[in-house]
Amino acid sequence: MSKKDGKMKINWFPGHMTKALRTIEVELKLADMVIYCLDARAPKSSLNEELEKRFANKPFIFVLNKADLADEKTLNEWKAYFDQRGLCILLDAKKTNSTKIILTAVQKLHSQKLQNQKQKGISKPIRAMVVGIPNCGKSTIINNLASRRATAVGNKPGITRGKQWIRVSNEFEVLDTPGTLWPNLENQVVAQNLALIGSIKDDVVDLVELSEVLKSRIGLSVFEERYGASSLDAIAKKRGFLQQGGVADEQKAAKAVIDDFRAGRLGRHTLEHL
Ligand code: G4P
Repeated sequence: MSKKDGKMKINWFPGHMTKALRTIEVELKLADMVIYCLDARAPKSSLNEELEKRFANKPFIFVLNKADLADEKTLNEWKAYFDQRGLCILLDAKKTNSTKIILTAVQKLHSQKLQNQKQKGISKPIRAMVVGIPNCGKSTIINNLASRRATAVGNKPGITRGKQWIRVSNEFEVLDTPGTLWPNLENQVVAQNLALIGSIKDDVVDLVELSEVLKSRIGLSVFEERYGASSLDAIAKKRGFLQQGGVADEQKAAKAVIDDFRAGRLGRHTLEHL
């Protein structure tokens, strides 16, 4: 993180971006389709368009996860946008059985193939790999899918050692380990959005400045309504976050504000709009 012209600049990059993409590419060759998990509060920022381009021949299901935390109107606009690029599902993966909707979508996408197989007496499940940025809910989705029928299918040739296909239904298997994929972090708006939703670790970000970014994205009135104040100084004093000598602890206030946003305590908000 560095400051230039008083503006926050996130200069942090995961070292293994290209390697991660390559690993996903290898694993995806063995899958029939991609379940691309995006954070519904920042759908475009959580997308790596490179993967979509490289696997244009595979069906994609875009899951706008954490839909329970996103603004409803904007959510439906984003859904319409991603429906044009694949098939888009709005999800709260923490809700029991919520991923049933993914099964229905898989059947819809592959109905012709499944029907042809049935006619020939073949039973070959559709295989999907879940990919997305850190913290968007990939593991939660896999666990939610798996709990319906948590049978590890066993190591199949070609699959990275230690990874397994989990049978979700007779027609559908999912890889037990998701692929972590970063979008373009050189774009500062993207980096800020990912920091706000908790994909980029807090220790590489200036939380005080990040809370200002949050204010500009979701509006001053949200802060006033929740805290009865909009400046960190006033919020810290109201909350009793004081340093020695009664000085407001803005760092602590900023962390509290950002945690409130992440947990949905500031209401449902989307950080980017079409
Ligand atoms: P990842 O594999 O993509 O890194 O993400 P993971 O599933 O570990 O989920 C990251 C956090 O997001 C978890 O919270 C998880 O519970 C939460 N989460 C996942 N899906 C949803 C969703 O649809 N809605 C909401 N509101 N939260 C979701 P955590 O704080 O790390 O753990 P915990 O709260 O479950 O204890």
